[in-house]
Amino acid sequence: MKKKKMQMKTKFFIFFCYIVIFCFSYSFSAASKASSNDEVSALLSIKSGLVDPLNSLHDWKLDADHCNWTGIKCNTDGMVENLDLSHKNLSGIVSNDIQSLQNLTSLNLCCNAFSSLFPKSIVNLTTLNILDVSQNFFIGEFPLGFGKALKLASLNVSSNEFNGSIPLDIGNATSLEMLDLRGSFFEGSIPKSFGNLNKLKFLGLSGNNLTGKIPGELGKLSSLEYMIVGYNEFEGEIPSEFGNLTSLKYLDLAVSNLGGEIPNELGNLKVLDTLFLYNNNFEGRIPSQIGNITSLQFLDFSDNNLLGKIPDEISLLKNLKLLNFMGNRLSGFVPSGIGNLHQLEVLELWNNSLSGPLPSNLGENSPLQWLDVSSNSLSGEIPVTLCSKGNLTKLILFNNAFSGPIPSSLSTCSSLVRVRIHNNLLSGKVPVGLGKLEKLQRLELANNSLTGEIPDDIPSSVSLSFIDLSRNKLHSSLPSTILSISNLQVFIVSHNSLVGKIPDQFQDSP
Ligand SMILES: *[C@@H]1O[C@H](CO)[C@@H](O)[C@H](O)[C@H]1NC(C)=O
Ligand SMILES: *[C@@H]1O[C@H](CO)[C@@H](O)[C@H](O)[C@H]1NC(C)=O
Ligand SMILES: *[C@@H]1O[C@H](CO)[C@@H](O)[C@H](O)[C@H]1NC(C)=O
Ligand SMILES: *[C@@H]1O[C@H](CO)[C@@H](O)[C@H](O)[C@H]1NC(C)=O
Ligand SMILES: *[C@@H]1O[C@H](CO)[C@@H](O)[C@H](O)[C@H]1NC(C)=O
Ligand SMILES: *[C@@H]1O[C@H](CO)[C@@H](O)[C@H](O)[C@H]1NC(C)=O
Ligand SMILES: *[C@@H]1O[C@H](CO)[C@@H](O)[C@H](O)[C@H]1NC(C)=O
Ligand SMILES: *[C@@H]1O[C@H](CO)[C@@H](O)[C@H](O)[C@H]1NC(C)=O
Ligand SMILES: *[C@@H]1O[C@H](CO)[C@@H](O)[C@H](O)[C@H]1NC(C)=O
Ligand SMILES: *[C@@H]1O[C@H](CO)[C@@H](O)[C@H](O)[C@H]1NC(C)=O
Ligand SMILES: *[C@@H]1O[C@H](CO)[C@@H](O)[C@H](O)[C@H]1NC(C)=O
Ligand SMILES: *[C@@H]1O[C@H](CO)[C@@H](O)[C@H](O)[C@H]1NC(C)=O
Repeated sequence: MKKKKMQMKTKFFIFFCYIVIFCFSYSFSAASKASSNDEVSALLSIKSGLVDPLNSLHDWKLDADHCNWTGIKCNTDGMVENLDLSHKNLSGIVSNDIQSLQNLTSLNLCCNAFSSLFPKSIVNLTTLNILDVSQNFFIGEFPLGFGKALKLASLNVSSNEFNGSIPLDIGNATSLEMLDLRGSFFEGSIPKSFGNLNKLKFLGLSGNNLTGKIPGELGKLSSLEYMIVGYNEFEGEIPSEFGNLTSLKYLDLAVSNLGGEIPNELGNLKVLDTLFLYNNNFEGRIPSQIGNITSLQFLDFSDNNLLGKIPDEISLLKNLKLLNFMGNRLSGFVPSGIGNLHQLEVLELWNNSLSGPLPSNLGENSPLQWLDVSSNSLSGEIPVTLCSKGNLTKLILFNNAFSGPIPSSLSTCSSLVRVRIHNNLLSGKVPVGLGKLEKLQRLELANNSLTGEIPDDIPSSVSLSFIDLSRNKLHSSLPSTILSISNLQVFIVSHNSLVGKIPDQFQDSP
């Protein structure tokens, strides 16, 4: 009896549960149907604002389920989750009705032709995880309000025509891992609040009209790996707090009107592989602490006002591929240890006041491609090892005091494209074989003390277009075959001891 009562009770309870679940799920599906209809009308309203020259949205029609429309992906509730309208040549207006897509997590409008104002209501899409509006021509201000988008992890606004200041409240969107605002006309200074974005890995602000000081608060971005901030009009110095950016791999502050000394603290950036500070007003010495960044591969301090010696510690940067200090006021010797950098491909030290010899083993152990140390006061012999690995394309040593012979090893360096070693004190003969180098286009040996004859292979070159041998002590007659060089545009041999007539068209032709 008791048992039966219990069973009855249980059955009734189960029945009750069914009703509850039924009612609940009915009301749930009705609600979701209603808002899904809202979404359909929002999408059609969005479509009506667009100019769609490729008719990409031809299937945005009521006779098909909108979850199946081009560019749309729904979640399991049938609500629009992804809207991808990228690469469709769309223009026109993005309707503020976009805010009706209440479950949108990813919106991609990248790579279209929008040149309108940006819909302010987008900031109401607080469910967004990814927003990409890059590569358009959107104008006007970028809306305030994304500080509420607490799930926003990736915001790519790059390559647009936004103006006005960067919205301060982006610093409240603390889920951001990627923030790319490069290539617009943003003005004003970098918000200090960006220092709160402690998950940020990528910060791109380059190519805007940003001014003011770079806030030291950015030094708090402990997850930051890429900071690309150059091509702006800042003032002041690099904050020493940048030495706290222990995850930083890539720092680009080029062309941004910064000055002062390069902070020693940058030496703490243990995983940095790229440091671009070129074309600023940095002064003082290059900190020896740079030698602590042993992960560095690309180091460019060119076009600043740096003084003093190149620190010997540079030779500790065993992974260095590019070293560019050109266009400064550096003096003293080139550290001999640079010859032991096994990865070095590009060495540009031109337009400084460097003296002494180049490391005698330069190029012996590294795939050296470009060497430009022109316009210094360098002396000694040209290292014979420059092309040991067979990679040298540009050898540019002009306006120095190099002496001794042109190494004969250069005449078997088949990668060479340019040899510009004029205005030095080089002596001896022009090595035999340069004319056989199939890629060599420019050969500038003028204003040295070269003697002997012009080797026969030069007139038989198939590649040379510019030859300047003037102001040397070359003698012998001019090879008559010089006229047969197919690509030759300029051939200058004046001020030598040549006998014979020089064809007029090769004197100073353009
Ligand atoms: C989506 O489209 C495919 C064919 O393109 C069709 O097989 C499928 O039934 C459609 N789904 C819905 C829910 O309309
Ligand atoms: C998209 O537009 C650009 C410029 O308006 C045009 O050059 C290009 O051909 C267009 N692409 C297509 C696929 O029509
Ligand atoms: C979709 O959005 C509505 C309204 O914001 C919300 O109530 C619902 O929980 C969301 N659904 C999902 C799956 O996120
Ligand atoms: C965001 O939504 C609220 C509430 O619906 C509305 O009052 C407000 O105008 C919206 N914001 C924008 C920028 O459209
Ligand atoms: C942002 O978008 C541009 C163009 O679409 C792309 O080149 C760039 O890599 C994106 N930024 C990041 C950090 O992925
Ligand atoms: C930004 O651009 C818009 C549209 O071109 C213009 O009306 C507005 O004055 C500009 N604002 C600023 C601060 O330059
Ligand atoms: C960021 O969030 C804080 C706390 O919610 C709020 O006080 C502040 O006003 C927000 N900042 C901006 C610029 O909106
Ligand atoms: C913004 O920068 C661009 C190029 O960097 C420059 O042509 C333009 O004049 C600047 N605009 C303002 C308002 O400073
Ligand atoms: C960051 O760097 C500054 C200056 O170099 C230093 O004073 C400060 O203590 C550092 N902060 C943290 C949190 O490491
Ligand atoms: C960093 O460099 C300085 C100067 O070259 C040196 O004295 C110091 O020991 C280095 N620190 C580390 C941690 O390597
Ligand atoms: C060489 O550097 C100086 C500054 O040190 C600069 O004024 C000059 O324009 C540079 N010359 C070339 C050819 O770049
Ligand atoms: C250097 O040249 C060698 C031989 O031509 C080639 O295998 C190698 O890839 C080159 N290295 C670089 C960094 O270009």
